[in-house]
Amino acid sequence: MGVEVDTNDSIQSLLKQASDKLEQISDSAYFDAELLLAHSLGKNRTYLHTWPEKKLSLSEKNTFHSLIEKRLTDYPVAYLLGSKPFWTMDLIVTPDVLIPRPETELLVETALDKIQNMKSPRILDLGTGSGAIALAIASERSDALVTAVDCSAKALAVAKLNATEFGLTQQLTFIQSDWFNKVPLTQFDLIVSNPPYIDPEDSHLRENIRYEPQQALVADNHGMSDIEKIIQKSHPFLTKGGFLMLEHGFDQHDKTIAIFIDNNYQNEQSIADLNGNWRVTLASYNS
Ligand SMILES: C[S@@+](CC[C@H](N)C(=O)[O-])C[C@H]1O[C@@H](n2cnc3c(N)ncnc32)[C@H](O)[C@@H]1O
Repeated sequence: MGVEVDTNDSIQSLLKQASDKLEQISDSAYFDAELLLAHSLGKNRTYLHTWPEKKLSLSEKNTFHSLIEKRLTDYPVAYLLGSKPFWTMDLIVTPDVLIPRPETELLVETALDKIQNMKSPRILDLGTGSGAIALAIASERSDALVTAVDCSAKALAVAKLNATEFGLTQQLTFIQSDWFNKVPLTQFDLIVSNPPYIDPEDSHLRENIRYEPQQALVADNHGMSDIEKIIQKSHPFLTKGGFLMLEHGFDQHDKTIAIFIDNNYQNEQSIADLNGNWRVTLASYNS
């Protein structure tokens, strides 16, 4: 008769138990459990697949269980791990910054496309948060000089850590400012921004993002107030023919274009994501 082996503490068994629990709150329960277990062990996910029968020590199990308990309150995986993949980087994130979203890569792609024929482009990233957009552009264009602005000193501290981590400090200047207020009057070839654009009345959306800084997400006037301020104030900071490029909600491109037109911009254009939603709008300033 074979000896019965208690596999309750094995990687495989702990993953199954944790992902069953996480089903209540996550569409990616098994993946979340894998990320959190790998993090608890200081390993990557491949290790979990290679050693499914390995048993965890008590302290490893305790670490994993406390992460799962916190995740069950809807606390984001990225804050539990302290990092989030964006573009080609694994960015440091803390609860002081918005967790960079995959959809923001559309803004980065569109920005890189616009500057592809410019030598040493000067770029301004308004509301840099973790530095996601500024660092992605700088990492692709070693000749680009990027100024990264945020009103939050804590967010800027995270962006600076990321710049150091990815060896990009020489290309970046950081300024703490309420949009343009403290930005010296210089001219940029391109201004990019993923500003707050969620309607404060959108209670469903707000529920999903309750652990992220609200000043990073919510804007008055149905989510349009920061987009409007940025469009109104950008043109003295743009070279002749320079572009302002904004990420916005899937239903905000018409309003964004109307604000561009009211403020005498030209060549307005919206870009759709892979689902066909207009998520980026840009325009140039020629006079
Ligand atoms: C939607 S988050 C974008 C963060 C990052 N760029 C990204 O795409 O992941 C908006 C950012 O704008 C910043 N912000 C909000 N109001 C601001 C203001 N008045 N002036 C400067 N930055 C502001 C927030 O602190 C936050 O970091």
